[in-house]
Amino acid sequence: MRINRRLLSAIVTALMAMSLAAQSGDPFGSAIVNGVPWTDNQGRPVNAHGACIVEEDGRYYLFGEWKSDTTNAFPGFACYSSTDLVNWTFERVALPLQESGLLGPNRVGERPKVMRCPKTGEYIMLAHTDDMRYKDPQVGLAVAKEITGPYTFIGPLLYEGKPIRRWDMGTFQDHDGTGYLLMHHGDIYRLSKDYRRAVKKVASGIKGGGESPAMLHKDGTYFLFGSNLTSWERNDNFYHTAPSIEGPWTKQGIFCPEGTLTYNSQSTFILPLHRGDSIIYMYMGDRWSYPYQASSATYVWLPMQVEGLKVSIPEYWPVWNPETMQPVSELGGKVVTVRFKSKEKGSKLTLPFEGTRIAIKGYTFNNGGYGRITIVDNQGNTVHTNLIDFYSKVPDDGLRYVSPLLPQGAYTLIVECVGEHPHWSNKRGNYFGSREDWVTVEEVRIY
Ligand code: GAL
Repeated sequence: MRINRRLLSAIVTALMAMSLAAQSGDPFGSAIVNGVPWTDNQGRPVNAHGACIVEEDGRYYLFGEWKSDTTNAFPGFACYSSTDLVNWTFERVALPLQESGLLGPNRVGERPKVMRCPKTGEYIMLAHTDDMRYKDPQVGLAVAKEITGPYTFIGPLLYEGKPIRRWDMGTFQDHDGTGYLLMHHGDIYRLSKDYRRAVKKVASGIKGGGESPAMLHKDGTYFLFGSNLTSWERNDNFYHTAPSIEGPWTKQGIFCPEGTLTYNSQSTFILPLHRGDSIIYMYMGDRWSYPYQASSATYVWLPMQVEGLKVSIPEYWPVWNPETMQPVSELGGKVVTVRFKSKEKGSKLTLPFEGTRIAIKGYTFNNGGYGRITIVDNQGNTVHTNLIDFYSKVPDDGLRYVSPLLPQGAYTLIVECVGEHPHWSNKRGNYFGSREDWVTVEEVRIY
C-alpha cells in the first residue's frame, strides 16, 4: 500500500488515555537516567562529553568536551561537580578556548582526562587536540593547582621530545599512582613521575585495539576498552585483558549484548565506585548527536560486572540508583498515553499538566530527527526547553526527556518536530546518521 507521507506526517494525533491515575513517587532526584539530557544547577544541559570523573573529598568532578551546537571547533572543556553522580553543579569552563596554538580558534579539542599527580599534587589534563579535518592529532597538556582549574595550557605532551601524533586517547591511574596515557589502536605510554611527559611506550599497537580507550585494573588483571571506527555512530565496543599493563593483551570480545551497539554508546571512561567493601566499576559512554552535541548528546553510565577475565553489562538500565546500584523499575507518576508521530517541521503536541516534573517516552530509530521540548508556565514563560535526538541506528523505546524539578504549578508541555535530523560524515566522506525527521512520543509521565 502506498502511504501518502505528506498526509501521514500532517496528521498528528494526540490521543490521551489516562491510565493508572494514581500519582506515585518521583524517582529522578536520586537516579542516573541514561540517554536523556541532564540539567545542571543553572538549568542548562550538562555539557561534558568524552568525559572522565575524578573523585576527591566526597565529590565527583566531571570533565568533558563543552560542546557547541553550531560547530565542531573547540569552545573549551567543562568541569561540573556532584556528591551523588545525579545532581550536577556547573563549576566552570576548566580549560577555555586559547588565543592561539593547539587549542586556539578553529581547532578540535576532545576527550579531556584529568588526574591528580600523586608526586606533585598538581592536576594534569590531557586531551586530544587536532585541526578541523583531524589531520594534526596531538595530545595536549594543561595543568592546574585546584581541581576545578582554570587549567593552564602548556602545549603538546612529549614522548622522546616529540608530540604523539595519534587521535583518540584516554588515561589510567594505577593503584600505585602510576599514570598512563592510552592511545587508540592499542598504544599505551607510561607517564613521568610528574605526569608532564610520556616516558615509556609500554604497549604498542595491541592487536584488535580500537578508538575511545578506557581502562580498569582489578585483581591483577588489566582491562582495556575500545570502540570500532564509526565516527559519532555507535558500535559494539569490546575489551582486551592482560596480566600486566605491558601485556600480553588478549582480545576478549564485546561486553554488552551483540547488536545493541553498547546500548547505543561509545566508551570514554571507567569510574571505580566504592560501595561497602567492594569496588563497582561504572562504565561511562557517550551517545553522540551531531550537529547538536551541546543540547542533545547524552550519557550512558552503567555498572559493570567484572569477574576473572570477563566484563559484562548484561542489561540496560534506563534509570538506576548509583547509591544502591539497583535499577529503578517503577517510574511512578501519572501516566498519560499519547501518540505523536510526525516529521513535519513545526507540528506540535501540546499537553497541559499540573505538577512538579514531567518525563517523556518516545521511539528512536534510523530515520529519527530532532524534537524540541518546551515547558511553559501559565504566564507564558518558558521554564525549560531542550532539543531531543530521536535518532538511533538500533531502534529503541524509552525515556527521551526528564524535566528538571519545577515549582508545583500549572504548565503546558510542547513537543515540536524541528524538521532536522542528526547526520555527519566521517573522515572518508561516508554518510552517517538519519535521513528523515521523525519525532515519536508515546507516553508522558506527570509528577
Ligand atoms: C570518533 C571519536 C570521537 C570523535 C569522532 C569524530 O571516532 O571517537 O572522539 O573524534 O570520531 O568523527
